[in-house]
Amino acid sequence: MEQFTRLILVVLPVLLKGTLAMTRDIPQSRCDNKRIMHSFTTIDYVWPNDTARSKALENEDYIPHNNIISGIKTYKNNVYVTVPRWRRGIPSTLNRVVVRNGTSVLQPFPSWEMQKIGDCQALQYVHSMEIDPNTGWMWIIDTGRINFFAADGTPTQNLCPAKIVIYDINKMTEITRHVFPNRVANRNITFLNDIVVMYRGSSPRYAFISDALAFRLVVYDRIRNRSHFFSHPSMLPEPGNGNITILGETLPVSAGINGLALSASMRYVYFGPVSGYSLYQVPTYVARNPRGNFGRFVRKVGNKPSQAAGMVYSRSNHLYFPALGSNSIYRWDIDRDRKNQRKSIRRVMMKSVSKILSSDTCMSFVDILTFDTEGYLWFTVNKLHKYLLQSMDFTGSSGPNVLIWKVYVGEVGYLDRRRNIKLPDINIHAFPDALSRFYKYIFRYIFTGKFHDN
Ligand SMILES: *[C@@H]1O[C@H](CO)[C@@H](O)[C@H](O)[C@H]1NC(C)=O
Ligand SMILES: *[C@@H]1O[C@H](CO)[C@@H](O)[C@H](O)[C@H]1NC(C)=O
Ligand SMILES: *[C@@H]1O[C@H](CO)[C@@H](O)[C@H](O)[C@H]1NC(C)=O
Ligand SMILES: *[C@@H]1O[C@H](CO)[C@@H](O)[C@H](O)[C@H]1NC(C)=O
Ligand SMILES: *[C@@H]1O[C@H](CO)[C@@H](O)[C@H](O)[C@H]1NC(C)=O
Repeated sequence: MEQFTRLILVVLPVLLKGTLAMTRDIPQSRCDNKRIMHSFTTIDYVWPNDTARSKALENEDYIPHNNIISGIKTYKNNVYVTVPRWRRGIPSTLNRVVVRNGTSVLQPFPSWEMQKIGDCQALQYVHSMEIDPNTGWMWIIDTGRINFFAADGTPTQNLCPAKIVIYDINKMTEITRHVFPNRVANRNITFLNDIVVMYRGSSPRYAFISDALAFRLVVYDRIRNRSHFFSHPSMLPEPGNGNITILGETLPVSAGINGLALSASMRYVYFGPVSGYSLYQVPTYVARNPRGNFGRFVRKVGNKPSQAAGMVYSRSNHLYFPALGSNSIYRWDIDRDRKNQRKSIRRVMMKSVSKILSSDTCMSFVDILTFDTEGYLWFTVNKLHKYLLQSMDFTGSSGPNVLIWKVYVGEVGYLDRRRNIKLPDINIHAFPDALSRFYKYIFRYIFTGKFHDN
């Protein structure tokens, strides 16, 4: 009886809330979650002056609708993002997000000079970078090729050899660079997609890099100034598993090894194809050795619920990855599986996987994820399927196209080497949608008479 009264009590507000939600649901304000730090309908830049901008528009050095954010890393309250040069008209591929007059825009990083197309000293195509929070070094991978997903028939331009550049953000100086030999990153087919950095002792030494179109794992040794690669069937697209369906729209993808993660112990690299579900693991002592027996030591650890591009590993042995088909982010609790299965990290299978965030409206194509040093998970959402299928709405009436989220998860990334890290310990709320959270409270109230747990 008491439950029934409570039910009556809540029906009215629920109905009211429903009506309010409907009227409030005008497109522009759809993604107004407090945890969204930046939102963009089109991507614009901080230009030297207005003339430079109108000139770039005129000669198509800047074609606004071809610009979209993919990679993201943070360092000391700054957010760095990449704009991959898949198509023509992308003036700057590596940037810092700044807010000008209340609008988020991109400031080329480290400079406009470093964005010059055709200058092999500068950056041509950057998809990802890693920032080492201990040193403030940004490890930038440059594919050297542009326009390889052109929609207007423009040919791909294989402008420069692929390279890696290590840049000191604090001193704004270059530490070193390495140009990949053609046999490691073929100038006609390479697509350097993601990067993780490995410490050896107390210094950052190796980079593991995915090549999504040559289907390779490329390895760079900073100390020796050398690079090598592995290829293996685990790096290929899975036949028939490349159709990524998001809210009824299907994007066929035939790319291989894509997102990478490195365990906090630095002992294992995790990878998987974007066209597929499998997650694989290989020991770093095998992969960092040019003569390592990759085929013998690589292991499939399980299947993800859906396809995904990026992934990231925390200091507390959680692996976070998106599920593109369900507009959500999942987390694999590796330590729980080790306990449950009584197996070492070398043999444990991926079972304890849970959905931690989900939103059809505001998490459509979660692309790249990263941690800051304060306990927050950051990620980009970019409707990439719509960009590639040419169905993206740049008028703003379907809401923003690119979002940058910041969500408290109470852990830090695999690269953070600080000894004692104290972070507030709170549970994250699954399902960020205010409405679903509201329903959760209501159901709890109906059945327990309380609005909160315990
Ligand atoms: C605008 O910026 C460009 C590029 O830095 C420079 O060459 C040009 O002189 C500037 N024009 C004006 C009017 O300041
Ligand atoms: C800032 O925005 C206001 C209102 O939209 C506008 O009047 C002003 O010119 C803008 N300032 C700059 C520097 O763009
Ligand atoms: C790239 O392709 C061009 C044209 O097919 C060819 O001439 C060139 O040798 C290739 N370069 C490499 C490094 O494979
Ligand atoms: C790395 O090796 C290349 C030759 O493979 C050389 O040109 C370059 O100067 C070397 N870089 C450093 C920092 O030693
Ligand atoms: C998409 O699905 C079709 C039909 O099932 C299949 O033939 C095709 O191989 C799939 N494409 C990819 C890229 O997996």
